[in-house]
Amino acid sequence: MILVTGANGKLGSATIEFIRQKNVQANVTALVRGAVKGETLQQKDVELRISDYMDYSSLLQAFEGIEVMVFISSGTVVNRVHQHKNVVGAAKEKGIKHIIYTSFLKASDNTPGIFLDHTETEKEIMASGIAYTLFRNTYYDDLLPMLVGDALKTGHMYYHANNAKINLASRRDIAEALANVALHAELHQNKIYEITSANAYSFPQIAQMLSEASGKQISYTDISYEQLKEGLKSTGLPEGVVGMIASVSKMISQGMIDYTDPALENLLGRKPVDLKDTIAAYVKSNVNN
Ligand SMILES: NC(=O)c1ccc[n+]([C@@H]2O[C@H](COP(=O)([O-])OP(=O)(O)OC[C@H]3O[C@@H](n4cnc5c(N)ncnc54)[C@H](OP(=O)(O)O)[C@@H]3O)[C@@H](O)[C@H]2O)c1
Repeated sequence: MILVTGANGKLGSATIEFIRQKNVQANVTALVRGAVKGETLQQKDVELRISDYMDYSSLLQAFEGIEVMVFISSGTVVNRVHQHKNVVGAAKEKGIKHIIYTSFLKASDNTPGIFLDHTETEKEIMASGIAYTLFRNTYYDDLLPMLVGDALKTGHMYYHANNAKINLASRRDIAEALANVALHAELHQNKIYEITSANAYSFPQIAQMLSEASGKQISYTDISYEQLKEGLKSTGLPEGVVGMIASVSKMISQGMIDYTDPALENLLGRKPVDLKDTIAAYVKSNVNN
């Protein structure tokens, strides 16, 4: 039996959808934090397991009879390593055979900030002796609006990228690949996949693609980290949000998202969604709204 955690979230719910689409017979259950959160899944006849990563005994109950777990990293970053250790510990205690974990691109001891949680979790999973597949996901392509800002209105795009390229991936593509692996876990034992789309792009290239898709000239100016932070502050965004957006730019400007790997394409058996397509869809929805 397959269990998908974070099943009320965007990645987990899409993964369940793909598993059922690909194999109607698949025995898939959903871990959610409460019955209300699982209502939509229940309406689709998905069996629910109610649990919280913070609550070890509820995890033990939720893991009854589970062989393969798609372990979606927690959306709650406070004490996340503790939450994840609970999940791995309970999985071991209940004899789960395979964990498919959603980590972060090139996770290592040098990974900064909250992303280091993934490195710690990977280590915990590997030490558990349970077979694993690590999905080291790059940023989802829904980061795009944050990078573009109001460029479609003003014709100017400003960011702190320091000439680095970025590789973003579609969340739905990642969900489909997770479903493929969950349905054939035995083929992916103890594998680490760096999950990216097929192309990384520079910010001038992104501005060029925006120009082509919108028919409006969009220029790109690379600014310093401090300028980016000041600009964000001047829009009245809360300090925490400014810090979060600025920290993303720091990773990008250090080239940490400038990485391309064929793993996602191989897992999907087709080309992943390209940022060019995401930009076209983004422009279309912004022009129509
Ligand atoms: N690669 C990227 O660009 C990127 C971006 C954002 C996040 N992420 C990571 O990828 C994960 C999946 O992405 P997503 O888009 O599906 O995020 P999401 O829609 O925010 O889903 C996060 C899930 O985590 C669950 N969760 C939070 N705290 C939990 C706890 N204590 N115990 C059990 N479950 C808990 C949430 O449950 P509820 O529904 O009950 O709240 C939700 O289902 C995120 O959780 C985050 O770790 C990656």
